[in-house]
Amino acid sequence: MPLPLLQLTDSPPHQTLTVTPPPDGLALTGRLKIPGDKSISHRALMLGAIATGETRIQGLLLGEDPRSTAACFQAMGATISDLEQEWVTVQGCGLGNLQEPDHVLDAGNSGTTLRLMLGLLAAHRDRFFTVTGDASLRSRPMGRVINPLTEMGATLWGRRHNTLAPLAIQGQVLKPIHYQSPMASAQVKSCVLLAGLLTEGDTTVTEPSRSRDHSERMLAAFGANLTVDLDARSVTLHGPATLTGQTVVVPGDISSAAFWLVAAAITPGSDLVVENVGINPTRTGVLEALQAMEADITLENERMVTGEPVADLRVRHSQLKAATFSGDLIPRMIDEIPILAVAALHAQGTTVIKDAAELRVKESDRLAVMASQLTAMGAQITEHPDGLDIQGGATLTGTRVDSYTDHRIAMSLAIAALRAAGPTTLHRAEAASVSYPSFWDNLTCLCESK
Ligand code: S3P
Repeated sequence: MPLPLLQLTDSPPHQTLTVTPPPDGLALTGRLKIPGDKSISHRALMLGAIATGETRIQGLLLGEDPRSTAACFQAMGATISDLEQEWVTVQGCGLGNLQEPDHVLDAGNSGTTLRLMLGLLAAHRDRFFTVTGDASLRSRPMGRVINPLTEMGATLWGRRHNTLAPLAIQGQVLKPIHYQSPMASAQVKSCVLLAGLLTEGDTTVTEPSRSRDHSERMLAAFGANLTVDLDARSVTLHGPATLTGQTVVVPGDISSAAFWLVAAAITPGSDLVVENVGINPTRTGVLEALQAMEADITLENERMVTGEPVADLRVRHSQLKAATFSGDLIPRMIDEIPILAVAALHAQGTTVIKDAAELRVKESDRLAVMASQLTAMGAQITEHPDGLDIQGGATLTGTRVDSYTDHRIAMSLAIAALRAAGPTTLHRAEAASVSYPSFWDNLTCLCESK
């Protein structure tokens, strides 16, 4: 009897999975639907919670991160229906009407929940809020949102000289600012814009490179008055806003699709269609990067779905070539760099990733963790302060690796394990459920033995 591809060898709270590729090889074929976009799911719940009237959401991601957002806004008075239903409804409180919760708001592992919510809370006059998260989130930098909010007149306190959660916020009437963000971050940009919703006047954010624009698109759809200047990389919210509940159909998450795009691209015999993937141009850096590496990816059935572009992505195996990635492309594929590193291991030549220091302050230090875990599997990787040099053509050998509780690391290492010789044992594999609870089921269904 063939060995199962995946075997659970431990018990909660942490799960250890052993990935054993069949000796006769794998091919990824057929069609696959992936879960809803995490960034859009957060925003649909949040804007629904602060708008007037009902918001209907289809395709919401049922990962732990959006569940944290839903729980926080329920604690502040929004009525959110059963998240497991096909359509989730949110009865909004109306702008400025979030209630003071009688408990600490817990954002779990989710930086987007915490940072975006802070903008809203800071502008809720006469209300007091306390917010925290898990061990990873409590170690992530919050000064990047506390600084602009303080400039707007917000009153916040936090650990380590107001840079780390837990945080306390005393809501205030804020003043509009023009914030020149030192980093391309949609979380920073969105935090400031959400604070601007309740603020009289023009709140502007300018970024060094463009970050994902889901907030701008959805705020405009809910009725906010925004001006976007693409050349200046700036967006202005003309406040105060009035928001009205909308219908949001959430496309599949390109960050989740990326695992299968790479798995099929590096696995001989593969021909896979990933359906209904969001292809917002501020998120498609990973497609451009893989195509630059000569991956065979085509877009089919392109369409618009409630303000976001969507397509089916067909990927076939091909021999990848190394490339260099830097600059404005990096923010457009920031969450896909761990899985791109796995693709680079199977390319001819040395792939260079630069200008990606932001990866060090994600759910884990993704540069250090990917370098150490792939090196343990036999890869040759040089780590730099802002990137990685990854030698292609490595022969990987299964060994013990660890997700460091980071969802994208867990899934990237699992894809690396598919092309390794022998079993790979992945510690803390449960992290995947933050953004992709059905990842392990999809992996077993997709990877039919040749
Ligand atoms: C996100 C923005 C990105 C990304 C994160 C989701 C968002 O973070 O890494 O997974 O939904 O706004 P930064 O804004 O910190 O780059």
